[in-house]
Amino acid sequence: MNDLSPKFHAPVLVAPVLQFLLTSESRTIVDATLGDGGHSEALLEKGGAELRVIGIDADSKALAVAQTRLAQFAERFQPLQGNFRSLTSLLGSLGMTSVDGVLADLGVSSRQIDQPERGFSYLQDGPLDMRMNPNLPHTAADLLATLEQNELKKIFRDYGEEKLAAPIARAIVRQRSQRALLRTGDLRQIVEKIVHGPHRVKSLARIFQALRIAVNEELEALNEFLAQALALLRPGGRLAVISYHSLEDRLVKQFFKAQAKGCTCPPEFPMCVCGRQPQLSILTAKPLMPGPEEIAANSRARSARLRAAQKR
Ligand SMILES: C[S@@+](CC[C@H](N)C(=O)[O-])C[C@H]1O[C@@H](n2cnc3c(N)ncnc32)[C@H](O)[C@@H]1O
Repeated sequence: MNDLSPKFHAPVLVAPVLQFLLTSESRTIVDATLGDGGHSEALLEKGGAELRVIGIDADSKALAVAQTRLAQFAERFQPLQGNFRSLTSLLGSLGMTSVDGVLADLGVSSRQIDQPERGFSYLQDGPLDMRMNPNLPHTAADLLATLEQNELKKIFRDYGEEKLAAPIARAIVRQRSQRALLRTGDLRQIVEKIVHGPHRVKSLARIFQALRIAVNEELEALNEFLAQALALLRPGGRLAVISYHSLEDRLVKQFFKAQAKGCTCPPEFPMCVCGRQPQLSILTAKPLMPGPEEIAANSRARSARLRAAQKR
């Protein structure tokens, strides 16, 4: 797939996303993870002539693809390059301080995964890059070359939930003293030396995921994004987040729960002294997942989890 190939990333859980975000009062919706623009296109088609979508992506190449795809919607679609962790200032650059809906469909797109030169996949050899925004200062190769063994172990354990984090980190440090790890194939070889048998593929996926999360500071960005999205929503506005692994989903779940509760006083206090009011009503008691038909048509949808909430 080349950069502007017409084979677009397949958006997941489109029907429930539209159902949550398109209310009779929706006028401005932010798609904070534009990607190939699949969700934005569906929102613009279904939302009617009054609806405007602001599409944000950290990846300028994704933005170029989506811009071409969504040109038909003219001024109803506004692309913006940037990280959603700066949501307030990105929207501020358009003079916007309040919106009706915010969508985040986290992680990387099929287009990014399928391009070996981006370095996201262990399935194809390419440079160990993994930056969503190619202007970020540090690539995956830089982290593997410079982090202490303990820091690497922590990344593989905390972001990949990998049981063999310690021996893999040790093997990386041993290897790099002889030759730098520059290619996805170099990292793959090390993991394959440590992990044998049926767990090998899962470990490869976990190690690559962990490194990608570290390179892009994905969990820090998600935390900052959630707080800003909540502040930007007008009362009655909706927030929808699609996660692809348990770390992201846990973070979204905890954020929704804390904001739906309001009070942060310790349970042993006889009465509330903080006075914090609930900010959100949760619309998905349990996360929504794709059905078997969607998974059969798009295997990458299988880990998707959608949570939605409404600002009070
Ligand atoms: C799963 S894809 C989104 C696909 C999109 N919904 C579609 O229908 O084509 C995730 C996109 O979000 C972008 N992204 C991930 N984290 C981001 C962040 N913190 N800020 C901005 N963009 C981000 C990635 O570059 C990628 O293009």
